[in-house]
Amino acid sequence: MKAAGFGAGKVILLGEHAVVYGYPAIAGALPLGVYAHMEAAERCALQTPGNLDEKQRALLQQAFGRAAEFAAWPKVLLRLEASLPMGAGLGSSAAVSVACAKALALAAFPHETREAQLEKAAEMAWRMEQVFHGSPSGVDNATSLRETLLWFCQGKVETLSCPTPLKILIAMAGQRSPTQSTVAQLRERQKKWPGHHKRLFEEIGRCTEEARGAIEAGDLALLGELMNVNQGLLAAMQLDSEKLIQKIHRLRGLGALGAKLTGAGGDGGAVVGLFEAPEGPMETLRAEGVECFACQLAGPRSL
Ligand code: MEV
Repeated sequence: MKAAGFGAGKVILLGEHAVVYGYPAIAGALPLGVYAHMEAAERCALQTPGNLDEKQRALLQQAFGRAAEFAAWPKVLLRLEASLPMGAGLGSSAAVSVACAKALALAAFPHETREAQLEKAAEMAWRMEQVFHGSPSGVDNATSLRETLLWFCQGKVETLSCPTPLKILIAMAGQRSPTQSTVAQLRERQKKWPGHHKRLFEEIGRCTEEARGAIEAGDLALLGELMNVNQGLLAAMQLDSEKLIQKIHRLRGLGALGAKLTGAGGDGGAVVGLFEAPEGPMETLRAEGVECFACQLAGPRSL
């Protein structure tokens, strides 16, 4: 059965955390994500996945309620299916929000144009994401909804193109704390020491701007170098951990042009490596028992 809504997972190449403070980020959509299946029902409802605990279930229902309210509670039942690792820094909550929002837009506004439906879906997904994360930057939602490589700054979005294939390998580095708590801890340190955090965010912003030029010129070596520098700056803000560092160094050892944590970071989550050919390193990591996958974010695709 074709899903009524798909929300893509995302990977942030540069600029996480700084984006919350108004600096730019570059993020790409993953082929993995969350599907919302929909059927007619007596009342508007979301069937929550069986693997959630009570707290997560309540939060998801609360978020869904915010979107359903906007759509005037269409009489449909939604059921979610995920092909994306959840809670790993790959935008799973945004993917859930976007999948639900797209399905609700289809049910509630069937006669509107695709563009108008997407605009309404964006508003509903944003409402849901605010329940999940408090005050997110919006980069996860924007990437999940648009399903492309993009530049995001203060709510404004531009699609990026690359003349060469931009391929990555993502590896999992274990369980992590929720994004909201990592963002909140950084906020505490930033309030205490605003001066040096400003300098670090500014430097991340410069790296991200330079990385945009590198992507548009197809200069993967420079892009990788900038990802490494971005990792150093995230580490300076104590957003790394032993688990993340070990995986980042493994990716570099396997020939990554650049490697860093992606998403909120903290005590675990996911790392991303930039590779010209990620397939070999992916096989090697899998043989070592590491959960990982490769994909292309932009550029020409071979048949
Ligand atoms: C989380 O995927 C990215 C962060 O920058 C938070 C946000 O942008 O809201 C850590």
